[in-house]
Amino acid sequence: MKVLLVGNGGREHAIARALVRTSTPEHPVALVVQAGNPALEQLGRSLTMDPLDPGDVVRRATSENVDLVVVGPEAPLVAGVADAVLDYGIPVFGPTKGAARLEASKSFAKEIMADAGVATARSFTCTTMEEVSAAFDELGAPHVVKDDALAAGKGVVVTSDRNEALAHGLACLAREGGRVLVEDYLDGPEISLFCVCDGATVVPLAPAQDYKRLGDGDAGPNTGGMGSYSPLTWAPQDLTEQVVTTIAQPVVDEMARRGSTFIGLLYCGLALTGQGLRVVEFNVRFGDPETQAVLARLTSPLAGLLHAAATGRLHEAR
Ligand code: GLY
Repeated sequence: MKVLLVGNGGREHAIARALVRTSTPEHPVALVVQAGNPALEQLGRSLTMDPLDPGDVVRRATSENVDLVVVGPEAPLVAGVADAVLDYGIPVFGPTKGAARLEASKSFAKEIMADAGVATARSFTCTTMEEVSAAFDELGAPHVVKDDALAAGKGVVVTSDRNEALAHGLACLAREGGRVLVEDYLDGPEISLFCVCDGATVVPLAPAQDYKRLGDGDAGPNTGGMGSYSPLTWAPQDLTEQVVTTIAQPVVDEMARRGSTFIGLLYCGLALTGQGLRVVEFNVRFGDPETQAVLARLTSPLAGLLHAAATGRLHEAR
């Protein structure tokens, strides 16, 4: 199978490594990768490509005659890369722009969770500082303030300092069309579970945890993740089954019901609270750096799994 991998960070290197390592002589994998990362370039033929330009990605996919396009980061998905590749009839692992709203708009994700009956933190979507302030009064500290839109890992502030929380709210609202979510604080360890989806069937990978805070001893501001590990020996035995049954499958079904079929990786960011599992966030792509830990443990062929998802045949792979 010939695979074009979009994106060239550490996450894409981990995906590429797993694609190559889990290939078999009967099902070999040839990789075409995005130039710019010397480690990634060792794993396949490299091409320069603008990952945010759907037309450019389509040109590469068609000229290379690939069987599958795998999109690593969220920005190309939000830019419509999957839609453009699908228009050319090439299977793509990654959601359309519409389905990528599960990550691109936190208020949209909340709406889907409400309709799908998925447990998450109580929240207010605010467009003015008066609303932000009222939400702080209602929910109390610690304050959880999230930019509604994509913010490259810098959109979330969790603090008991009301002035700091207000300043973040103000910064988010200052952007054109800015909206901010103020949420209840979810107390408990966080877990990331990756679910491979074909629009109907959900296949979970192994749970992982990332280290969110910048400094040693869990100190400093939140980041996109400073490192990660898997397996989670302390997590409940039925964690994965619980997440699939009560979170991932209902969300995939709700997206299908709305005509916005979700194909790709549904990253369930969860908190294990005293009241049970709660969704912290969804992402629509492999997590970084959890992918580095999770895919290193995978033994079954990754290319076959992602191709089955992209072509609606995941029930055969389960
Ligand atoms: N590690 C968090 C993320 O990938 O968004």
